[in-house]
Amino acid sequence: MGTYAVTGSASGIGAATAARLERAGHSVIGVDLHDAHVLADLGTPDGRARAVEEVLSLSGGRLDGAAAIAGVGPGMKDAAAVMSINYFGPVALLAGLRGALAASGAGRAVVMSSNSASTVPLVDAELAALALAGDEDGARERARTEQAAAPQEILDFAPSIAAYATSKLAVAHWVRRTAVTPEWARQGVLLNAIAPGAVLTPLLRDSTGGAAEGDPDDFPTPMPLGFFGEPEDVAFWVHQFLKPEARFATGSVLYVDGGTDAAMRPDAHPTALTF
Ligand code: NAI
Repeated sequence: MGTYAVTGSASGIGAATAARLERAGHSVIGVDLHDAHVLADLGTPDGRARAVEEVLSLSGGRLDGAAAIAGVGPGMKDAAAVMSINYFGPVALLAGLRGALAASGAGRAVVMSSNSASTVPLVDAELAALALAGDEDGARERARTEQAAAPQEILDFAPSIAAYATSKLAVAHWVRRTAVTPEWARQGVLLNAIAPGAVLTPLLRDSTGGAAEGDPDDFPTPMPLGFFGEPEDVAFWVHQFLKPEARFATGSVLYVDGGTDAAMRPDAHPTALTF
């Protein structure tokens, strides 16, 4: 049986993923702020370095898979923290674990993006570019500056919604850029992203002002299936990507959102290559 690292393992989608892997007979090294094997703040460079070091030590330097699921929602007050936790956290963690994933011969990595990346019309392209350039200080400063300039009704609804959507777009683009590089692809380490929609977890409940307690048809974005997701609905797909048999998918971004993105932008994806 395999050894898997799961961040955000104490709650929601991360907890459901860890439970699912354990039910399948695997060892799971959970990483979180609390109630985990490795206690680390993935929002800081020190916390990320410690998390990598402890996962490598607990796994003996060999991992079958890693799922970077920890994150904070758009209700977070500090937009800079959203960038650090949601973008720089998974990127540093997975980069630090890449060698251990390669050592297993069929490493698998999954990152949690969000359909907010494509359904929230507040993405800041310059902020995404700073993140993808690896400029954490610059991204933090930009996120705070843009947050300070945001209209009050947006700040009242979800103070970090723009940074949240931007962090999730940037992490999806990081996955697509990185998965195809020789360091990942030719080492057999497959890297994919999942873009969930409204999934009933503390993060969703804390960031939608009661909308996730009500009728899905009254939710701010369309819910074609007529129900909200449960953490297990996303954990199922994380598990599929983590299996050794999932050997021909890399650099993909899978929507697991009850149809929200397709309902809002049916023709936006895929886009045709043009000359
Ligand atoms: P959750 O709030 O239930 O779980 C998040 C976990 O991440 C918690 O255990 C928390 O302690 C941990 N975490 C937060 N900050 C951390 C830090 N600095 N260092 C280490 N651990 C930290 O949330 P949920 O909903 O399970 O979210 C998991 C991921 O899925 C997040 O990346 C989120 O953005 C994403 N997502 C969730 C959606 C939803 O509707 N619930 C929709 C789209 C994406």
